Amino acid sequence: MTKTIDIEDLNEAQALKELARLAQILLQANDDYYQADAPQLTDAEYDRLKRRNLAIESRFPDLKRLDSPTEQIGAPISDGFSKAVHSVRMLSLGNAFDDDDVADFDKSVRKYLGLGTDSALAYTAEPKIDGLSLSLRYERGKLVQAATRGDGEVGENVTANARTIADIPQVLQGAPDILEVRGEVYMTHTDFAALNKRQVEKGEKTFVNPRNTAAGALRQLDARITAERALHFFAYAWGELSEPLANSQIKALAQLGEYGFSINPLTRLCAGPDEMIAQYHLIEEQRATLGYDIDGVVYKVEDLALQARLGFRSTTPRWAIAHKFPAELAWTRLEAIDIQVGRTGALSPVARLTPVTVGGVVVSNATLHNEDYITGRDAKGNEIRDGKDIRVGDWVQVYRAGDVIPKVADVDLSKRAKTAKPYVFPTKCPQCESDAIREEGDAVRRCTGGVICPAQIGEKLKHFVSRAAFDIDGLGAKQVVQFYNDGWIKEPADIFTLSERYGNGMQQLRNREGWGDKSADKLFAAIEDKRTIPLGRLIFALGLRHVGEAASNMLATHYGSWDSLEQAVTDAATLEGPAWDDLIGIDGVGAVMATSLVTGFAQKAERAAIDRLVAHLNVQDAARPDVADSPVVGKTVVFTGTLEKMTRAEAKARAEALGAKVSGSVSARTDLLVAGPGAGSKAKKAADLGIETLDEDGWLALIGAL
Ligand code: IVH
Repeated sequence: MTKTIDIEDLNEAQALKELARLAQILLQANDDYYQADAPQLTDAEYDRLKRRNLAIESRFPDLKRLDSPTEQIGAPISDGFSKAVHSVRMLSLGNAFDDDDVADFDKSVRKYLGLGTDSALAYTAEPKIDGLSLSLRYERGKLVQAATRGDGEVGENVTANARTIADIPQVLQGAPDILEVRGEVYMTHTDFAALNKRQVEKGEKTFVNPRNTAAGALRQLDARITAERALHFFAYAWGELSEPLANSQIKALAQLGEYGFSINPLTRLCAGPDEMIAQYHLIEEQRATLGYDIDGVVYKVEDLALQARLGFRSTTPRWAIAHKFPAELAWTRLEAIDIQVGRTGALSPVARLTPVTVGGVVVSNATLHNEDYITGRDAKGNEIRDGKDIRVGDWVQVYRAGDVIPKVADVDLSKRAKTAKPYVFPTKCPQCESDAIREEGDAVRRCTGGVICPAQIGEKLKHFVSRAAFDIDGLGAKQVVQFYNDGWIKEPADIFTLSERYGNGMQQLRNREGWGDKSADKLFAAIEDKRTIPLGRLIFALGLRHVGEAASNMLATHYGSWDSLEQAVTDAATLEGPAWDDLIGIDGVGAVMATSLVTGFAQKAERAAIDRLVAHLNVQDAARPDVADSPVVGKTVVFTGTLEKMTRAEAKARAEALGAKVSGSVSARTDLLVAGPGAGSKAKKAADLGIETLDEDGWLALIGAL
């Protein structure tokens, strides 16, 4: 790899060469991403190169190429599809990587259900198809909609394309009035090889792997192309149903089979972890000869009534898990170590590798985690890789598991050059030159530049506009970075004054390269639209460390409105007292997250930026539409003592589903204590505070579950 020269040091000839190099990489990356559905660069790397390109263009405006990547606003193919809202969310699965994880899964299911080890509990085991999931909606037996998963709530409407897939029946006999069938679209190895052969004959680019090809084919605007790509479909789950399919997983699948869907023939009923693991190995042995890609085995609780009791965590069901096959490996050369700076200032080392194919995908970047990982230590200071460090020029083993970012796993010392020097981790931020420090107990070195560090602000802005945050149509990561580079947007609040500042006058958005009247008006309207924002999204968008999407929603539900959240977090700044206790008592909010939240709000510059932002917004209180008439909505409930009809976890999940806040400790803010036998100090405290106390049956009666 050529050494990257600082932009300030480039002469004209070097700049010309560098612009040509960047144009080639970026234009290729656009193609890979949008046309071939086979990205070879990470988003971060793509953005870094794009920023570099833009910075060189600004320094040498005369050298800007006619085909400058700055001008290419990638138009994702998916823009052409209408959105399809899933009536029942499409979830993903938790992962198990070894036998112990499978045993733990069984234990956690039993614990949740309050089943002892001697009670029977059956599971199904079936291959995990490596394709893309699709939801098919049938009304009165007719296929009316096919939708991709998207973000789980809203996908793309790909009905016309799905109709070209022979495995997908158009009409069902005797099916419930409403039936949503879910499963995986995939491509067989034979069809994939034949397609690539045709591509070679036509002198066109070949495809990377069957999964990306299937995804690309399903998301073609022209359904005739989908039809040519020979896709297949296995059904394995369902969404909305007007009546149940059966009372067990196996029978429900058999029913789908009767309607005409393909059901994977390797699906088996297992009596427990031993049989599940045996079936896993059986499927693994057949992996190479199946004729299509699978990446693990999925286990599901067989009894559908138990599945219903187990329910869901924020993004995954409690009643199923994916047992992944071991990751794939390859050896290659480590060409360079680059440091990326994230939204929270974390310096992350990235390995630049001589490209190598790992499990069908070309890998040229991999994560090196952190400083210690490079030196051969884990977070606790223990040796990893027998203490071998990693140096530029080394032969390294790259490991890839499914969609996870590839990582450098091992190093071959016998191939190390004598001249290779230990890697010295920077102690200054490569982006803003501020000190990068490591706090005691933190595995990560962080830039202290805060709001002066362009990388942190850039990443924060990207996070702010991301899908789970403000999700503004027309203002994606690329656009927001362009605006940031040009000084149009310096912080999130600036987005909401963009139309005031650049809607009219000398500098107008509509006059910018790549923009016109229509796109500018559309963007301003989209921004206007997002001025009204749900509380949970706002909290997540702030991008505070440790405060993820699920936690943001929990905080929103707990506090209800921005004002009470802000008040509570401000009151909790002392890291003690009732506001603090209340905050850390929220399910899923630990001391680490609470500290990060409180510190974020207490930092002057950060808080001022938050205040400036919120002044432009109309923050919607956390809505609980489906629990409006629940008797416990908004109430803070504490469970204590032994519960006899349900486990503690189940009690908590049910209370939360009804809109209650479940806290671990009794305080003046507690509305209700549910005390089982053996309740101790909490019951006493509740009595002292005059808090209403119910026993388990009283609680079940209250929520209408008796
Ligand atoms: S069940 C509520 N069964 O794996 C969970 N998923 O990593 C419904 N997948 O999003 C999913 N084969 O796209 C299920 N036999 C199988 C599967 C399967 C592949 C996919 C599915 C899911 C992803 C999660």
